[in-house]
Amino acid sequence: MTDRPARLVVLVSGSGTNLQALLDACADPAYGARVVAVGADRDDIEGLVRAERAGVPTFVKQVGHFTSREHWDRALTDTVAAFEPDLVVLAGFMKLVGAQFLERFDGRVVNTHPALSPSFPGMHGPADALAYGVKVTGCTLFVVDAGVDTGAIVAQRAVPVEDDDTVESLHERIKVAERGMLVDTVGRMAREGFRVEGRRVLLGR
Ligand code: GRF
Repeated sequence: MTDRPARLVVLVSGSGTNLQALLDACADPAYGARVVAVGADRDDIEGLVRAERAGVPTFVKQVGHFTSREHWDRALTDTVAAFEPDLVVLAGFMKLVGAQFLERFDGRVVNTHPALSPSFPGMHGPADALAYGVKVTGCTLFVVDAGVDTGAIVAQRAVPVEDDDTVESLHERIKVAERGMLVDTVGRMAREGFRVEGRRVLLGR
């Protein structure tokens, strides 16, 4: 990262509240980053509307519009690359990016997961935590690798599980923590830089 604001490309699949938190943070020049594009794997989602409202360019790459997962991955990679991101943020992006994507943006893709890794990877983190009966769960920001929610951990926040929680109430409480974690950590990555040493992610130069 350099002294200019870091260029963020954010990928979303749904409501985009994590994206909104980043857009709001980026409105302050002192934050050190700006969202240069927002991409999605589907149309008609609130996340894209949030980007458009903020005047940020958007694009959609649907897997079903391509002849193979590899072609989709290539198109997604090329489109994201055209925006010259310093950091790619997967914020509720419900697809696994492929090998070409990871190769092109090696070590510069982060994802937020609504569980405390390495517990409860995959699509149903809050439901799995509730079903297991843990008393504390949370969220994890990690550098994406080829696995499912297995990458080196940048930040985590703990969230209590309440006795009367439903999957929805628990996920909403996690998302509050998740947005704070995402904004705080991506800002620090942008302003201070970061490096990955084995499984450890170190902020600062
Ligand atoms: C987040 O909890 C994310 O970790 C999960 O889906 C949620 C997305 O929320 N994969 P939003 O679209 O940012 O509101």
